[in-house]
Amino acid sequence: MKTCVILISGRGSNMQAILRAQPPLRIAAVLSNDPQAPGLEIARAAGVATAAVDHRRFDDRARFDARLIEEIDGFAPDLVVLAGFMRILGPAFVQHYAGRLVNIHPSLLPAFPGLHTHRRALESGVRLHGCTVHFVTAEVDHGPIIIQAAVPVMPDDDEDTLAARVLEQEHRIYPQALAWLANETVSLTPEGRVTFPHANRAAALISPTLDS
Ligand code: GAR
Repeated sequence: MKTCVILISGRGSNMQAILRAQPPLRIAAVLSNDPQAPGLEIARAAGVATAAVDHRRFDDRARFDARLIEEIDGFAPDLVVLAGFMRILGPAFVQHYAGRLVNIHPSLLPAFPGLHTHRRALESGVRLHGCTVHFVTAEVDHGPIIIQAAVPVMPDDDEDTLAARVLEQEHRIYPQALAWLANETVSLTPEGRVTFPHANRAAALISPTLDS
């Protein structure tokens, strides 16, 4: 069974959804850049090892990244799973985990990389919004897409209602993506494209009906 480490920065609801769904992976540890991240307590309560590498103790990003690599590699993971990890990771970090570093982002990438995705979706007037699980490359919130879920944007939505609708789908697609990665039903080609067997095609975009 493959081993993974999950990185969080805050409440950890995606991490919790992954723990609950039990994809066929050994979750070796949950790490955070913030020792106070509420998600760490959730992980501990679920019996998962935790550790924190406090970014505030490092005056330089490269040193933080290097210390984080050391901590992660102590668990020898096949996969490193960013689940609401809100620090930008440098090129050396991304290169070190090339092909085994994945992230979830609350938009239908390549739309709305970066912060405040729900507010920006509302401001731009898109009718569809959603979330994406992707391999991480050096460019922030870019990289080969593994799975997306689309949700409608309703006329009376505010940032919170839209975020909640998207989050519900995040909790579906991340465990799904990890299950595919665990049993190698998706893979990354040397050209940086994600391939998956015919049987998975229908599931690569989760598009809930309006009343779901
Ligand atoms: C999630 O919505 C995740 O997609 C987002 O942060 C939230 C973390 O929530 N990640 C990013 O914006 C990364 N660019 P969680 O801690 O409850 O999983």
